[in-house]
Amino acid sequence: MSEQNYNLPMLKEGSLIDKVIVITGGGTGLGKSMAKYFSELGAKVIITSRKIDVLRKTSEEILLSTKNEVFPVACDVSEYKQVENLLDASIEKFGKVDALINNAAGNFISPTERLSNRAFDIIINIVLKGTYNCTLAFGKYWIKNKEKATVLNIVTTYAWTGSAYVVPSAAAKAGVLAITRSLAVEWAKYGIRFNAIAPGLFPTKGAWERLLPGDLKNKFDLKKKVPLQRVGDHQELANLAAYLVSDYSSFINGEVVTIDGGEWLNGAGQFNFLQSVPEKMWDEIEKMVRNVKGS
Ligand code: HXC
Ligand code: NAP
Repeated sequence: MSEQNYNLPMLKEGSLIDKVIVITGGGTGLGKSMAKYFSELGAKVIITSRKIDVLRKTSEEILLSTKNEVFPVACDVSEYKQVENLLDASIEKFGKVDALINNAAGNFISPTERLSNRAFDIIINIVLKGTYNCTLAFGKYWIKNKEKATVLNIVTTYAWTGSAYVVPSAAAKAGVLAITRSLAVEWAKYGIRFNAIAPGLFPTKGAWERLLPGDLKNKFDLKKKVPLQRVGDHQELANLAAYLVSDYSSFINGEVVTIDGGEWLNGAGQFNFLQSVPEKMWDEIEKMVRNVKGS
């Protein structure tokens, strides 16, 4: 396969047939791309977020393209009661839920000392509380009804490295990763799998305008941070997510799959900066290093 084909759908037709999949934050960005691909693969998809008009528009758009109904349900994931309503609406509509994608998020760049406590709360409430609210409500239902299921959490690579200027998001995503790994063990006995995806740079309006507003986009060429020198294509992430919620990945549990073109490791390796040394300089450098005698 040529490198140019990375943006093609990967799984065979019908791979998610009859699977019922709930995607939080499914009306926009990466959630929408996952919803569209899951629907193409035969899944019954429920998309949810705070804005019902956005959800309805996305549902209609996907239906036109896949001829497969997508069910929009308004829900603020930070409110447990609303999450219980989402569960009830999903069961009433499709009779079961096979997979939950905790994808909803809130984030913006800011020096931490400029944040009010409410600003910190709002991010934690969407990302961490939203994830545990959905996981708890759906998990209790699955366990009580002896139904097997899978949960896929969308985190970030700074869930384990941390990152300046997005501290509430980093703290919340680290918590989500801890939930993923903890429940992968605790709830495996109920047939509930937990995995996570840590995306690198995938252009979306929601993330880009809050993380690189205005001129910052031109000032920092983020592609330069990526060893593969490009950003991700939504289909690449959708392919991975579809695999992780499909039965093909039944033995994968507790994993976090990074899909970032090598970006975070590039930032981590102490000598990675040597990539900027031109090839022809290496003969000279080798000579100098070999000439060093003693300590
Ligand atoms: C400082 C800010 C602020 C800013 C909001 N606040 N924006 N403080 N700098 N830029 C403060 C407000 O003043 C308020 O505190 C508090 O945060 C809540 O703000 P509201 O606007 O009332 O909240 P709300 O309308 O619920 O909006 C939530 C939001 C918004 C998170 C602020 O951006 C949103 O709806 N985001 C959803 C989509 C999103 O963020 N997507 C990006 C995901 S990208 P006070 O004290 O004044 O009341 C991602 C990872 C990307 O997660 C990784 C890329 C590599
Ligand atoms: P996005 O389009 O802004 O998606 C975030 C979604 O979350 C929106 O649809 C939003 O819809 C929803 N949401 C926010 N608060 C909510 C709440 N309280 N209840 C329910 N839904 C809520 O951004 P994105 O880039 O696609 O991000 C998707 C996921 O990928 C996030 O988890 C993000 O952290 C992760 N990620 C993205 C990137 C990237 O490069 N794009 C990189 C790493 C990780 P409403 O406003 O309608 O509620």
